[in-house]
Amino acid sequence: MQRLTAAAASVAGLGSTTVRIDALSNHLPPLFAGAAEYYVRYRSEYPAPIFTELAGRLGLDGRQSALDLGCGPGMATFGLTEHVASVTAVDPDREMLAAGHALAVEKGVDGIDWREGSSEDLAGLGVGPFDLALMAASFHWMDRPATLAALDKLINPGGAVVIITGSMSGLARDTPNRPAWAEAAYTTRERWAPSRRRWRGDTSDNQSTYTLQRGENRAVLEASAFASVDSYELHWQRTHTVDELIGLLMTVPDLTPTALGDRIDGFRTELREALLAAQPGEHFVEPIWTQVLIGRRPTD
Ligand SMILES: C[S@@+](CC[C@H](N)C(=O)[O-])C[C@H]1O[C@@H](n2cnc3c(N)ncnc32)[C@H](O)[C@@H]1O
Repeated sequence: MQRLTAAAASVAGLGSTTVRIDALSNHLPPLFAGAAEYYVRYRSEYPAPIFTELAGRLGLDGRQSALDLGCGPGMATFGLTEHVASVTAVDPDREMLAAGHALAVEKGVDGIDWREGSSEDLAGLGVGPFDLALMAASFHWMDRPATLAALDKLINPGGAVVIITGSMSGLARDTPNRPAWAEAAYTTRERWAPSRRRWRGDTSDNQSTYTLQRGENRAVLEASAFASVDSYELHWQRTHTVDELIGLLMTVPDLTPTALGDRIDGFRTELREALLAAQPGEHFVEPIWTQVLIGRRPTD
């Protein structure tokens, strides 16, 4: 795995985007209900070097078509638009799509087709074919082998699947140099959301939604049509106030405003006390370990 140096993300471009909400019967659990507004405020886009490196490895020259599956409000979508001609941004959550569309209009970013849908209805969406499919912090919510099989039908010969993990480190115990407040956040989450949501297709007793999945994704790719796997990673960081950290934690399923309901104030108070006990002060530096896996079809 190759390591990159960090730099700020940038987004540019002028124009408009489209959003299309089809009458799909959405049978997925509403994991992120009520989270979109918090997501836009408290998460951040991935740093630009992630996409520069990706463009170099895949030979992206602004002519390709891409799918961003599980796009949320576009945390990876906007970085991708810098290197391809068009992005179809798919998510089952309408609030996420609306937030992404609003951000695109605000930024003046062109070439994004926001679509309601999921890994489970890709074939019926009438989208594609694509030169690449990106899944950023979303693959772990899907039935991973079934998703890769569906993508095999949508991705052009010579195309690739890209899996990005690591958009926040407070809840990922395997992030190197994790500060004490991150463990306090983790244990507070355990108390308020003890029964973790499972990803689609998971039948194991494994209760960790995220951390263990990081290691498994390579094996899942290697067992798919996209078995030729390449990878790199980026260590970067961002600084939060305690209120921003609380908002960040509320972007996670089971801790969203909708999931907490009238428990919001209790959660916020307890988390604030736990964070400040672990680290007094107003500046919380979050180390982030973002990993990128690229899967291509073997050539021989
Ligand atoms: C943690 S957010 C990631 C958003 C964005 N890609 C990012 O990197 O910040 C996960 C997103 O995956 C979406 N999602 C969940 N299950 C999905 C599925 N089966 N197919 C497609 N998207 C899904 C959720 O609605 C949510 O917007």
